[in-house]
Amino acid sequence: MAPIREFLPCATPRAWIDWALEHPELLLVDHANCEKKAASTALNLMYRYTDHPALLNKLSRLAREELRHFEQVIAIMGRRGVDYPQISAARYAGGLREQVRRNEPGRLVDTLLVGAIIEARSCERFAALVPVLDAELAEFYSSLLKSESRHFQDYLKLAAALGSAAEVEARLAVLLEVERELIESPDSEFRFHSGVPA
Ligand SMILES: [Fe+2]
Ligand SMILES: [Fe+2]
Repeated sequence: MAPIREFLPCATPRAWIDWALEHPELLLVDHANCEKKAASTALNLMYRYTDHPALLNKLSRLAREELRHFEQVIAIMGRRGVDYPQISAARYAGGLREQVRRNEPGRLVDTLLVGAIIEARSCERFAALVPVLDAELAEFYSSLLKSESRHFQDYLKLAAALGSAAEVEARLAVLLEVERELIESPDSEFRFHSGVPA
């Protein structure tokens, strides 16, 4: 966890953890959506960047892992009798993607850095939830935070292979400041990546 905590601009606020405990079903539903979205984001990159063999290989494995997580979440929802309604997306990923530069190669570097940030935050949130959840979910989330930490490293390494160290550092400074705002500011709806209750 140390590299993740060093990388992220802030810890998950206690108010978000309390908010999650008030919405146990929504937590699972939005978590299922996050796993599905993580897989489809990786697949989209595999369609767009066929000329990057390392990216294709890493992200194909990552997408499979995210779909496996998705299957695990919906299995738990099924056992607990949790319905799976359509819900709106959190502002989080969209807020980060707004910062992505429009032209290549900056667009790919930024997209990979956003991927690293989302994976790092997911990992940190799972770790924050483990001590407060029931035994089954705590064990499940402990297992997930290990894969999300690997995904964080994968995205970061891919970005570092494409951009210079100075470029990566400069872009991370911008993106992480936006991330801090999204995590620490009031948010209208509870989601896995939402801010604090308004
Ligand atoms: Fe995942
Ligand atoms: Fe992941």
